Amino acid sequence: QELLEEVEKLKASNLEEVEALRIKYLSKKGSLNALMADFRNVPAEMKKEVGMKLNDLKAKAQEKIAALKEAVDTQDCGTGELDLTRTAYPVSLGTRHPLTIVKNEIVDIFSRLGFTLAEGPEIEDDWHVYSSMNFADDHPARDMQDTFFVEARPDIVLRSHTSSVQARVMESQQPPIRVICPGRVYRNEAISARAHCFFHQVEGLYIDKNVSFTDLKQVLLLFAQEMFGKDTKIRLRPSYFPFTEPSAEMDISCNICGGEGCSFCKHTGWVEILGCGMVDPAVLEANGIDSSVYTGYAFGMGIERITNLKYQVKDLRMFSENDTRFLEEFKSAN
Ligand code: PHE
Repeated sequence: QELLEEVEKLKASNLEEVEALRIKYLSKKGSLNALMADFRNVPAEMKKEVGMKLNDLKAKAQEKIAALKEAVDTQDCGTGELDLTRTAYPVSLGTRHPLTIVKNEIVDIFSRLGFTLAEGPEIEDDWHVYSSMNFADDHPARDMQDTFFVEARPDIVLRSHTSSVQARVMESQQPPIRVICPGRVYRNEAISARAHCFFHQVEGLYIDKNVSFTDLKQVLLLFAQEMFGKDTKIRLRPSYFPFTEPSAEMDISCNICGGEGCSFCKHTGWVEILGCGMVDPAVLEANGIDSSVYTGYAFGMGIERITNLKYQVKDLRMFSENDTRFLEEFKSAN
């Protein structure tokens, strides 16, 4: 009876105290076992009653000690008595967005060639997006069909290309200029697997004395081979941009089929990845750079296009749908 009362009053504030109580009462050498050992000295006519009481006592003691353990276990979590040696629950990390992975890679390649990063605003004025880039007033790219205008301010637009950053760099800095400008651009296009109302570009600009088309070609070849592998070939086709003269579009030998022909290169063996050219002297002059002293080249590419080729993504919409099953596929590319 005494022991029962004692057991019912037991208290413990941590696991060590609970364990000490278990040893004191329930272990082999504990007080309950000592009582059990005495059981054979109980007179036969009292054995039944004493036996029941002993069993009851043992059950109560086990129950009490289990309850004390449970109480300190839950309390441990809240009182700072954490077991810091326990392994952590696995924490699942997110992944970088595929476009960020590829943008970083592009920036990294050009950084190694001495290009530094420049950025500009996505909401731009007409001057930096079009006029300073030698677009005539009636150039179709300014058309409502292409450009998002800010309501009530027809001179303010969502930039439709990162060439606006070229203008911002030139107006604030004299040559030598060697910058790489990644950023988001907007065009008023219906959303489909192949077009979106926003996408991302990387622009490059190099202005110095004696910069030639050969320099441009060599830098782009190096970029293509760093990005898509040493065997990659490039091909330049004459083209037109208001801000470069001469202008070209660059194709690479299809990295997916190795030039054999596949659905990515529409069975031609070549895929277009960027536009480029020598900066038009009119652009240099419009931005305060003496075109009789300096020449330069510029190029611009879509990050989505490079990512599609690199990771064989066929639908542009995947990039902005936040489908974690798609995003998780880039875990190992991080
Ligand atoms: N701005 C052009 C485009 O958006 C790309 C480009 C940049 C072309 C620089 C030539 C030089 O399509």
